[in-house]
Amino acid sequence: MAASRLPLLILGIALAAGAMQACAAPAAARPVCRGPAGWDAACLRARYAGPSAGWPAPSIDPGIAWTEWTAVPPPSSPPLAWTAANAGQAELAADVARPDIVALGQTLFFDSRLSRKGQVSCASCHLPQRAFTDGLPLAVGEDRLMGRRRSTPLYAAPFAPRLFWDGRAATLKEQVQGPIHDSREMNHDAAGAVARLRDTDPYPARFLRAFGPAPASRPPVDADRMARSLAAYVATLRPERTRFDDFIAGGADALDDTELLGMHLFRTQARCMNCHHGALLTDHRFHNIGLSFYGRRNQDLGRFEVTRDPADLGAFRTPSLRNVSRAGPWMHNGLFADLKGLLRMYNAGMGRDAAPANPPDPYAPRKSPHIRPLDLSADDIDALLAFMKVL
Ligand code: HEC
Ligand code: HEC
Repeated sequence: MAASRLPLLILGIALAAGAMQACAAPAAARPVCRGPAGWDAACLRARYAGPSAGWPAPSIDPGIAWTEWTAVPPPSSPPLAWTAANAGQAELAADVARPDIVALGQTLFFDSRLSRKGQVSCASCHLPQRAFTDGLPLAVGEDRLMGRRRSTPLYAAPFAPRLFWDGRAATLKEQVQGPIHDSREMNHDAAGAVARLRDTDPYPARFLRAFGPAPASRPPVDADRMARSLAAYVATLRPERTRFDDFIAGGADALDDTELLGMHLFRTQARCMNCHHGALLTDHRFHNIGLSFYGRRNQDLGRFEVTRDPADLGAFRTPSLRNVSRAGPWMHNGLFADLKGLLRMYNAGMGRDAAPANPPDPYAPRKSPHIRPLDLSADDIDALLAFMKVL
């Protein structure tokens, strides 16, 4: 008796949940500032005129802790909320406040002597004018060896609790040592790079000025100091100021009607705020938005390759969207050469997951529940695109 009632009970709960959703639906179907004739630009302008606290509520799924868009913290600000949690970050926070260390890091960033054959610098793959990416779908290192992923834009790096598309590095200092060693990037070892810098003017003097004499007769140039300066420089990188900053600072008039509509859609019907929020338009978290190419030639399981947790299959870190129009081609694998194509894919809810296999495949990635078809019109997509370009 009890056993036969259980499925009914579950059915009842399911129906009740369905009814609740049905109740919520009409509210969602009545969008702000949209009448029978379409979007009302003056209405949108009025709704976004004041401080963000008075703006229309964004569409956020239950359980997501989102934060409002804000100004980007200045370069001198100590990087991050996570400073206290990690002893290494206290060192970084002190280093960014020392101009000699940051300037040394900048010089190193642009110096191809860090690579074995002197062919590539950090800036070969992280060009300042391209939001610190390189314009290629997959990064190309020394001897033109292809990497597996696209160069990450660096604006989120000062604030991200974990680095790389898959979060495999915990600190900037740990991260910057990666490319020097990587055979597909700079193909060097820290000792080799350090030995070269010791023999190269003006590095010994600049290391000495930045860090002071090394303890116990060690030379002033060493691998730890090299990594510290590079990390300090990267921690001071900030996106170029745009009209989006003027908008955040309190003026809907900083955006034209199309951009304003795109901004509104981004926050509401297009659901982008679920992941692209906060000062850098990223939650710094990992999501599978359906680009893992599971079982295909370019398969990349992302965060799972680091954690081996099936929940992380195909998940990549949400990138910052600041200055995003300069950062293409987009996504961890440079899949989209054109932003409009990317927006059309979001509109379609991205690709479909593989059909459930029999027996079930425990390693088949499952797309994030926050990625869904959006029902945006062609004009809506154009508006979103216009908004992407002011970011
Ligand atoms: C051959 C191209 C190449 C070179 C050279 C290179 N990088 Fe990168 N960089 C990449 C790629 C590709 C990624 C993303 C890799 C991944 O996530 O698996 C990346 C990621 C990063 C990140 C992580 C950003 C984030 O938010 O996760 C930082 C920081 C970074 N690089 C700094 C540097 C520094 C500093 C140097 C020089 C010491 C350097 N890179 C040299 C290609 C390169
Ligand atoms: C579930 C979280 C989530 C939602 C919702 C979401 N994104 Fe993303 N976005 C991501 C992740 C994760 C990536 C990186 C995925 C990858 O490379 O495989 C990404 C990448 C991007 C990129 C590429 C940036 C770059 O430098 O490569 C753009 C542009 C973008 N998203 C725009 C949007 C827009 C516009 C919306 C709303 C229509 C949106 N996103 C909704 C998580 C999300």
